[in-house]
Amino acid sequence: MTRRVEQVDIELGERSYPILVGTGLLKDGALLQSHVRARDVLVVTNETVAPLYLQTVTASLGDRRIVPVILPDGEEHKTLESYARILDALVQARMNRDAAVVALGGGVIGDMAGFAAASYQRGIDYVQVPTTLLSQVDSSVGGKTAVNHPQAKNMIGAFYQPRCVIADTATLATLPDREYRAGIAEIVKYGLIYDAAFFDWLESNVEALSSRTDHAVMHAIKRSCEIKAAVVGVDEREHGLRAILNLGHTFGHAIETAMGYGTWLHGEAVAAGMVMAADMSTRLGWLPAADRDRSRTLLARFGLPIEAPRIGATRARELMGMDKKVLDRKLRLVLMRKLGQADIVGDYPVDALDATLQQHFG
Ligand code: NAD
Ligand code: GLY
Repeated sequence: MTRRVEQVDIELGERSYPILVGTGLLKDGALLQSHVRARDVLVVTNETVAPLYLQTVTASLGDRRIVPVILPDGEEHKTLESYARILDALVQARMNRDAAVVALGGGVIGDMAGFAAASYQRGIDYVQVPTTLLSQVDSSVGGKTAVNHPQAKNMIGAFYQPRCVIADTATLATLPDREYRAGIAEIVKYGLIYDAAFFDWLESNVEALSSRTDHAVMHAIKRSCEIKAAVVGVDEREHGLRAILNLGHTFGHAIETAMGYGTWLHGEAVAAGMVMAADMSTRLGWLPAADRDRSRTLLARFGLPIEAPRIGATRARELMGMDKKVLDRKLRLVLMRKLGQADIVGDYPVDALDATLQQHFG
């Protein structure tokens, strides 16, 4: 059977790799085996994804020695303990430097498995097999790996690129609606930070994307990956431009941490956070109020939360002080210059931030 496979390349010299997007890729043994070359493969997944896709992936990998690690599900398990379980499994299975890790699951599994691959024997190959919309458009791409610290999201990790990303859109068929919508938040982000025409396209395709129509899903994933590839290709380790991919995340991470990991989904917190970032951009006179309202309306049409929880401005400020974008004790924020263009900013008037926190967090 001929499959339609879209390919986007991440250009990073010797660390370059392809992102393959298509329907039914996990069943394609030839494709999987050509991108997972190792004889010994540790497949990291969780108790939700394993019953759905582990058997298919194992069968497609043919005669490789496959060792599965099945972790508990949830953001609250994105911990040093889970990471240690992956390392234990690698040691127990006597995996060597020529082994590979396959991350089969959403962003939680991808971030943890990537970090284990980055640190095991100072780095072994890994392949991302993202199975949520969010991980297909964002977390599997670009090499950020991490676990959470109880007081701050993604505090412990490494930049470490995968060898390949294999995004099978057929896996989205089993994804719960709330998780699917959370992925759309990161898709909207790409329009807001980089591509006003893509934002227009999203406005015109709310129904098609919400109902998971093939052509809309493929286009949204491919365009998102192209934008992420363009940004990461210029600034792999977030010295500047890459920070724009964090629009809404500083506010959002405060929400995730304050509410308890897993209570608000990452994409939901990012949606409410982007509303706050747009609001602050308008307060600074950068983003026209009409575009702030368009951003908010689009997120709402996708069924995403646009109101932040009332965690209190003081608590929020405390949590935001732990952000990785703090430099010289000053919290830098990603704000919008206009629809389709974002910037990392450190010299904003503090009053504008205070007013934003007060209005949204109470
Ligand atoms: P997730 O990994 O928790 O997956 C969401 C839920 O869907 C889980 O319950 C999971 O078991 C389940 N699931 C996964 N695939 C499924 C499928 N095909 N069918 C049914 N259920 C399925 O969450 P996520 O939204 O994929 O990722 C969020 C995480 O990604 C956060 O920890 C966030 O910090 C991280 N992230 C990382 C980056 C990065 O650049 N590394 C970028 C964005 C987000
Ligand atoms: N999700 C933010 C980044 O990859 O940089």
